[in-house]
Amino acid sequence: MSETILKPDTTFDVEELRKEFPLLSTEMNGHPIVFLDSAASSQKPQVLIDSIDHYYKNLHANVHRGVYQLSQEATHAHEEGRKRIQKFINAGSDKEIIFVRGTTEGINLVASSFGRKYLKEGDEVLISAMEHHSNIVPWQLACEQSGAQIKVIPVNDEGELIMEEFDRLLTEKTKIVSVVHVSNALGTINPVKEIIEKAHAKGVPVLVDGAQSIPHMKVDVQDLDADFYTFSGHKMFGPTGIGILYGKEKWLNEMPPYHGGGEMIKTVTFEKTTYNELPFKFEAGTPDIEGSIGIGVAAEYIEKIGQENIARYEHELLEYATEQLSQIEGLRIVGTAKNKASVVSFLIDGTHPYDVGTILDKLGIAVRTGHHCTQPLMDRFGIPGTVRASFAFYNNKADIDRLVEGVKRAAKMLR
Ligand code: ALA
Repeated sequence: MSETILKPDTTFDVEELRKEFPLLSTEMNGHPIVFLDSAASSQKPQVLIDSIDHYYKNLHANVHRGVYQLSQEATHAHEEGRKRIQKFINAGSDKEIIFVRGTTEGINLVASSFGRKYLKEGDEVLISAMEHHSNIVPWQLACEQSGAQIKVIPVNDEGELIMEEFDRLLTEKTKIVSVVHVSNALGTINPVKEIIEKAHAKGVPVLVDGAQSIPHMKVDVQDLDADFYTFSGHKMFGPTGIGILYGKEKWLNEMPPYHGGGEMIKTVTFEKTTYNELPFKFEAGTPDIEGSIGIGVAAEYIEKIGQENIARYEHELLEYATEQLSQIEGLRIVGTAKNKASVVSFLIDGTHPYDVGTILDKLGIAVRTGHHCTQPLMDRFGIPGTVRASFAFYNNKADIDRLVEGVKRAAKMLR
């Protein structure tokens, strides 16, 4: 990042910062792009693109395998990525940082491995009504195999977890709680620290889906005392195809491997295999080396801007967008929690989200429409889906003004 972006008062110059994201200077349908779909996947800074370019031009060889210098350098860069992530989320050890393909794989790993070891008939897995399908289906698969059952913490009309219900549903039958930190569909920031404290008081471990929190706020896994915390590189300005599963050593040591193959073994005979130590026990096969390097670069990039600066700036954007959109006749915001990240989901009377999204696309504005992989949550609100605008620190008020104008135009055309 160029030094001019950070001002001495620790705020940042968003116009300068935008220049570091090449895609933000492109056009869509003949208009300068307004990218408001960072909750689906964020754009990439030049420093990330350069790091990948550098890796393939200078550093590529398989890791952990070669005695030759190039392989050792690649291994060093790969493991440096792990250490950067350890620091980024303040994990106690780099053994607790497992490289996975993304949040989805992180949750599947825990549901499968923890499920095989600890779930049995009569047990319960506690999730919430605002989970992404990726924090529902893996648990359904684990329950099908074990005979355990899923219980669901309901949400209120604002899109907040009903904590009294959580207290009621957390029982001696609960074997694990798996909840989202920030809702991708509503933006609600859940009280995960409180959830973890209460679950631990009953000896129950907690997995937190951090896909939507990591790009927007400081996460300290030791402070949260999370047992598992998982997130994706591509939503935090890093590459696609890489993600992180943080797990406490005491759990990861006890859990059986998820995938079998090279790298995760110590010894193999046809009769018996012994497994490698952490984190490699969970990392079968050649890893995504450009991804491990890139996610580390992305984490450093976020740290340089500063998570507090990001959270403060995005909160301003959220307030501005909420205020401006609310003035549009017939527009209803879905998800009005007191504690929200920079996501605005909405519906316009008499229109379908898909049609609104299509008109916005023609105007160069990228939003997501539909159920956002949270069908049970949409059912809870009795709606088929929403139009969702999600912001990152590279968005500005001009983006929101273009969105508001576009939505007004769409409403007029469609009604
Ligand atoms: N889960 C991602 C989203 O909310 C893809 O858009």
